[in-house]
Amino acid sequence: MPFNVIQYEDLPQDLEQRLQEQCNVTRVESLDPGQGNQFRAALAEAEGMIGVSQDVGPGLLDLAPKLRVASTISVGYDHFDVAEMTKRRIMLMHTPDVLTETTADMVFTLILCAARRAPELHGMVKSGGWTSTIGAEHFGSDVHGKKLGIIGMGRIGSAVARRARHGFNMEILYHNRTVNREAEALFDARLCSLDELLSESDFVCLMLPLTDQTKKMIGPAEFDKMKPEAYLINGGRGPVVDEQALVLALQEGKIRGAGLDVYEQEPLPADSPLLTLANVVTLPHIGSATHETRYAMAACALENLLGALSQRSTRNCVNPEVV
Ligand code: DGY
Repeated sequence: MPFNVIQYEDLPQDLEQRLQEQCNVTRVESLDPGQGNQFRAALAEAEGMIGVSQDVGPGLLDLAPKLRVASTISVGYDHFDVAEMTKRRIMLMHTPDVLTETTADMVFTLILCAARRAPELHGMVKSGGWTSTIGAEHFGSDVHGKKLGIIGMGRIGSAVARRARHGFNMEILYHNRTVNREAEALFDARLCSLDELLSESDFVCLMLPLTDQTKKMIGPAEFDKMKPEAYLINGGRGPVVDEQALVLALQEGKIRGAGLDVYEQEPLPADSPLLTLANVVTLPHIGSATHETRYAMAACALENLLGALSQRSTRNCVNPEVV
């Protein structure tokens, strides 16, 4: 008997075919229960689901009494109520590792673009504004040799630290729940308090998941501690930063600039003050968005789903206690 699965995100063609060969698939655009009886009927029979960026909480789970596995095509799983899923013995699978290097590349892009003002000056050239030799008003900041403070020294934080230490000769500070001996040995990274990291770093780089503990972790008090020539880089989750406080810090010159890939609300609303500030680089949540990596993530998520449904493998399970 094939497994009943809800698919709520496109997959590359070959993976889609594999899913269809092994499962009875209902394809939907969203997980909104209001979308009709056909969806609710499919949910009532669903044993698995695969997709990304849709909220899964008790309301939806009540409609899916047979659900055993949810596979997200992402490393982050803040869209899921994990405690509720664990209570109901539903496995949540995610895609770590395959996106680590690509996301670290993007974080470094943010560091370089913010410091060297590349998007701003590119815009000036394209719009015909380069009419004389560049002067101090367009100078940026050095990256090499500076101090990089990484908050959240997990897989991606470590990959950023490797680039910074071995590619740009940067000094690495980090703040983390646990000591990362490997990062200390490989990148001379130094564990320090949040206050010390904020007050010493030239670049404060956030690589944190969104949890109750990390929400709005960086707010007015934290910006007050940063150096006026420092940059905030966020490649993790937007709500970790109090965005209103960030806008004020940028407007008042409490920090020199920011490089952001993630926001409190995504897509970033058209009236966001962030869009009017020249000292902010804004990317549209593209940490893992390359052809190669998005394919690898989809393949990993599919393998996670099929492996867990058929009880072959529980690799990449967020809540292995349910197994
Ligand atoms: C992830 O995998 O969590 C990325 O942020 C894409 O959502």
